[in-house]
Amino acid sequence: MKILDANGANIPALGFGTWTLKGNECAGLVQHALSAGYRHIDTAAMYDNEIDVGTGINSSAIPRSEIFLTSKVWPTDIADGDLQRSVEASLKRLDTPYLDLALIHWPSNSVSIREAIGALNDVKSRGLAKHIGVSNFTNAMIVEAVAASKHPLSCNQVENHPYLDQSVMRKTCARYGLALIAYCPLSRGGKLFEEPAIFNAAKNHGKTPAQIVLRWHVQFENAGAIPKTATLSRLGENLDIFDFELSEGEISAISSLTGANRRICDFDFSPDWD
Ligand SMILES: NC(=O)c1ccc[n+]([C@@H]2O[C@H](COP(=O)([O-])OP(=O)(O)OC[C@H]3O[C@@H](n4cnc5c(N)ncnc54)[C@H](OP(=O)(O)O)[C@@H]3O)[C@@H](O)[C@H]2O)c1
Repeated sequence: MKILDANGANIPALGFGTWTLKGNECAGLVQHALSAGYRHIDTAAMYDNEIDVGTGINSSAIPRSEIFLTSKVWPTDIADGDLQRSVEASLKRLDTPYLDLALIHWPSNSVSIREAIGALNDVKSRGLAKHIGVSNFTNAMIVEAVAASKHPLSCNQVENHPYLDQSVMRKTCARYGLALIAYCPLSRGGKLFEEPAIFNAAKNHGKTPAQIVLRWHVQFENAGAIPKTATLSRLGENLDIFDFELSEGEISAISSLTGANRRICDFDFSPDWD
């Protein structure tokens, strides 16, 4: 497993995303993921599954100290005071004394970055989270957030896959020492897996198209990915990407699919992407 060093946070590059997983299925998948070798689990207050994620972690044989656990605060809760209360409520649901990484899930139109980042710093100062970061921030917002933060920020979790050009964000994150953690890293599967650049690389390496896409992510500096699967056999498949390397030609063929510039998570509350 590749471990990222993101301003002091040691983040396993391949994590398990849990959006849409709920109840016993979610708890069971988290437990299986941990026994399959995952050490990075991603959830959020908004996913309404923190109790289940906590159950999966606490019923696994892996000590909490060996797990990198991320959760996120929804933008309606990022004012000073609300943000701290939201993280405390997450900890209660997750049944854990701390998060490894607390993120602002999306920026807000009504709360300034300065105020939200100040509250996030308080979460870190109080030990509720070992590290702090953001999600869905634009390049300009990263510059503002870094300037407003007393503690270093460790990540921007953003949509990233071969159909979306995040090369500028990659540079912005590198400039400030943040990890770029990719959500929707598989572009939710389907058509992407039939692209010749991916399909051919899969044949060359004896890997599946999903493994090629995940390997493409983690070959970039300080970059990780948090694929979600509800299919037990795919847990191991998605993790088994550290025993081969894509060539420069393969990386650039896959990167050139960004021409489609297709964003999956774009809502009326999204910021103006830059
Ligand atoms: N910060 C944010 O705003 C934000 C937004 C979206 C997502 N996220 C995080 O990112 C995680 C991942 O994103 P996502 O779930 O939207 O998309 P994703 O991981 O790109 O795609 C998940 C889809 O791919 C399929 N899949 C997984 N592994 C596969 C494999 N080896 N072969 C074929 N298909 C495979 C899954 O099917 P099965 O489940 O049927 O196996 C599922 O339909 C989320 O769970 C969440 O933790 C964060």
